[in-house]
Amino acid sequence: DRDWSSDVCSSDLRHHLLTLGTLAAAALALGSVAARAEDTVKIGIILPMTGPSASTGRQIDAAIKLWMAQSGGKAGGKKVEVLVKDDAGVADTTRRLAQELVVNDKVVALAGFGLTPLALATAPIATQSKTPMVVMAAATSSITEASPYILRTSFTLPQAAVGIAEWAAKNGIKKVVTLVADYGPGNDAEKYFADRFLLNSGQVLEKLRTPLRSPDFAPVLQKVRDAKPDALFVFLPSGQGAQFMKQFGERGLDKAGIKLIATGDVTDDDQLADMGDVALGVVNSHHYSAAHPSPANKKFVAEFEALNKFRPNFMAVGGYDGMRLIAKGLEQTKGAGGQALMDAMKGQTFESPRGNILIDAQTRDIVQDIYTRKVEKKDGQLWNIEFDVQKSVKDPGKQK
Ligand code: DHB
Repeated sequence: DRDWSSDVCSSDLRHHLLTLGTLAAAALALGSVAARAEDTVKIGIILPMTGPSASTGRQIDAAIKLWMAQSGGKAGGKKVEVLVKDDAGVADTTRRLAQELVVNDKVVALAGFGLTPLALATAPIATQSKTPMVVMAAATSSITEASPYILRTSFTLPQAAVGIAEWAAKNGIKKVVTLVADYGPGNDAEKYFADRFLLNSGQVLEKLRTPLRSPDFAPVLQKVRDAKPDALFVFLPSGQGAQFMKQFGERGLDKAGIKLIATGDVTDDDQLADMGDVALGVVNSHHYSAAHPSPANKKFVAEFEALNKFRPNFMAVGGYDGMRLIAKGLEQTKGAGGQALMDAMKGQTFESPRGNILIDAQTRDIVQDIYTRKVEKKDGQLWNIEFDVQKSVKDPGKQK
């Protein structure tokens, strides 16, 4: 009897204990999953890793890898997990990926954005979900006005174009033809170059444009030849400079005495080394040169090249500083995202490989030095050598 009841008892007890044990184990497992999730913050990076803007994706991805290696992938006491997605430069894809990263992956921030239309397509998602969105590449002035959750670590075309317009007017150039890619940053480059050049008594003979996708430079270069300006001013997005430069040389515009001036997107460090002597002497203005002679930049370039085996360009620096901006914000919020992270990133200032930068707390746009540079050969390679600087330039596009 006793044995039986004892058996029943012990059997019940055993069952009970087993259940408790299973629950305890499950609770422990759940607890550790929760702990692990709490210890990790995810950052969603959307880049054109394929398609015509793939060099932008490759440069920014490489810079993020460098930041991860240097920081140990940690910020604000949390492990940082970077989710890199390829939008191939297609805005509908960027929007879908951003939605998935916010809803499914619960990222604390979105970052990347290789072209203006890709950043603009994502702005409503940042606004609706209150997710900070760090623009590391795209450079149309108005992007930061598309959502109060956007910050920028790249540059704006008005910042870059005003510098070269000033230089041209002071250096005997009186008649210019402009040539820009026919979309947001091209509109900005054309307008801000012309406005400043006219203010300094220059003359713009003609304003030419090429399409963003698969541009053919032959017809516009013929028009430039016929117009006989002192100089041609050019903005083209990163990745198009080498092809343009080749055709400029092949059509003999340099030999016809037409000076080439540009934003630094055209003499892009990603392609400059292979552009050949036609690029020699091209004066341009921009926020970053791999030849910037600061100790911080020398360290950045050396470590970037050791890790990635190619030269960093301005896109890489936008990506690198974007990671540093997010990490500095996470340090302050102890890993929290949303409005707290947004507030923590506004007003940040630190030394970038390009020089000191500030994220303006009002506009959320970058304030930085703009350099005038000339393409020169050093040790058999081409570089943008800085010879003048405008300090702490705010985006002229926001000073209306
Ligand atoms: C943009 C893209 C570029 O590659 C560049 O050099 C400048 C601006 C843009 O789409 O905003």
